[in-house]
Amino acid sequence: MKMERTEKTLENVNLAFVDAVLDKYGCDKSKVIAIMQDVQEKYRYLPQEALTHIAKKVGISESKLYGVATFYGNFSLDAKGKYVIKVCRGTACHVRKSSNVLQALYEATGTGEEKSSSDDGLFTIEIVSCLGACGLSPVVMVNDVVHAAMTPDKAKSLVADLREEAHEHA
Ligand code: FES
Repeated sequence: MKMERTEKTLENVNLAFVDAVLDKYGCDKSKVIAIMQDVQEKYRYLPQEALTHIAKKVGISESKLYGVATFYGNFSLDAKGKYVIKVCRGTACHVRKSSNVLQALYEATGTGEEKSSSDDGLFTIEIVSCLGACGLSPVVMVNDVVHAAMTPDKAKSLVADLREEAHEHA
């Protein structure tokens, strides 16, 4: 599996938080998966600084820890936005023009095929093959919430709503 690190960290890493997680698991090297899960839950990916710190604290090499992180498909080494928008391009969604929805999302968030995360740290666009909700196609999922029967216009207002929500909670 190829995993590439984005150049930019979207959020500063709080090593005190990582230390608290390490303490919870007693810095036990046999618990590195649980440790990385907790860290990923907070940051939505595994920041390099956190991995370096974990490796040092549990006493394994960084390369070994990277090996574990890349072996398990549910870890991400790429920085992600606050809102991860999954766009389905499975057959049912594709025939209902999910590619137009994807283009609208790229435009509204300032992302694109070569740039999956927005500079403001708010959005990451991911393309998936099926979200298991084909009857509601075309479907996008924002974090864990499914949005059905999307159109380019609905996609644009969704992004505007999320932006507003992010500013309200800032
Ligand atoms: S093809 Fe899009 S949800 Fe199944």
